[in-house]
Amino acid sequence: MTQEQVLDALSNVIEPDLGKDLVTLGMVKDVKVSGHQVGFTVVLTTPACPLKEQIRSACVKAVHELVDADAEVTVNMTSNVTSRQGPAAGPGRQPGVLGEIKNIIAVASGKGGVGKSTVAANLAVALAQEGAAVGLVDTDIYGPSVPLMFGIDPSEKPHVNEERKIIPLEKHGVKLLSMGFLVDETQAVVWRGPMVSSAVRQFLNDAEWGALDYLVLDLPPGTGDIQLTIVQTVPLTGAVLVSTPQEVALADVRKGAAMFGNVNVPVLGVVENMAYFTPPDLPDRKYYLFGEGGARRLAEDLGLPLLGEVPIEQVTRESGDRGTPIVAAQPESASAKAFRRIAELTAQQVSIRNADLPATQPIEILYR
Ligand SMILES: Nc1ncnc2c1ncn2[C@@H]1O[C@H](COP(=O)(O)OP(=O)(O)O)[C@@H](O)[C@H]1O
Ligand SMILES: [Mg+2]
Repeated sequence: MTQEQVLDALSNVIEPDLGKDLVTLGMVKDVKVSGHQVGFTVVLTTPACPLKEQIRSACVKAVHELVDADAEVTVNMTSNVTSRQGPAAGPGRQPGVLGEIKNIIAVASGKGGVGKSTVAANLAVALAQEGAAVGLVDTDIYGPSVPLMFGIDPSEKPHVNEERKIIPLEKHGVKLLSMGFLVDETQAVVWRGPMVSSAVRQFLNDAEWGALDYLVLDLPPGTGDIQLTIVQTVPLTGAVLVSTPQEVALADVRKGAAMFGNVNVPVLGVVENMAYFTPPDLPDRKYYLFGEGGARRLAEDLGLPLLGEVPIEQVTRESGDRGTPIVAAQPESASAKAFRRIAELTAQQVSIRNADLPATQPIEILYR
């Protein structure tokens, strides 16, 4: 067995999402052969890759079938998250800072109370659990929930270092900044779109994030002035839309999809939250309190992936209120499993997007 034979064999393994073989994509590294033993590294585009095991076994199979049926194959799976980040716009932008943030994912919803912040928090923690470097910015000026959901005491405020950069707080492996650290709720009413978006921009540019694979933005609910201003000034990789199953909520998701479409931000997919209820004492039952399959049909209609269906669970609400997102508090619960899957599928969509599309160009809006 030679290194060339192994590489030849692996050039028959197609990365299903990207549609090209692993060797052409430069994903195979460090091939070492000795007798019947071969080892190599596969560098995936995300540590949260849902196809990890499928790719690993395809590699083993290719070596066995095409090179040596008796080979002892060791595949080391690692990752290097991809990025297509364009430059951030705006006055005061320091070059290179955002360059350390590989991907920015906005979590949006047409309405409040659908679980957008719960999804954003669990998405961030689940990605961090998979080994990604993750940040979360809570831009919801009217109802910041990161302080509550991450158990941050109101007296705990981020510090500013000698270079006058904000140091994000860190909880459950996620770096955090929240509008809730800046303004109390009684002040929030006077904030308008441009003010919020410049605060968000400061959070991105003037904070000491370090290198991040994913920065999750919890957007304020709705598709109005504030949301539009934020999504236009931040170079988003893509957006995740959260809805509950009712028609009234789904109708607003269409507006959300249209808003992102207008500013050329790809929608990575739709999450249906509170999709069904399973009584803890009847684990085989599913009650579709708000109707069944609405988000699935909507996603199909809009040509978007359905990233997952999260059940209504009391523990999800309780763990959120107690400051530990459910994926960390009760990893084996049905909701935590759904959120982990959503994190994998979101990371997968980011990788596909980065392979297929150019960077999102932020648009600078001037207010007079
Ligand atoms: N899947 C769920 N099961 C149970 N409670 C949930 C679920 N998703 C969200 N909640 C609860 O519903 C409330 C609103 O959720 P939140 O994430 O704050 O919504 P939004 O950010 O859209 O306003 C919170 O109390 C949260 O804990
Ligand atoms: Mg919220």
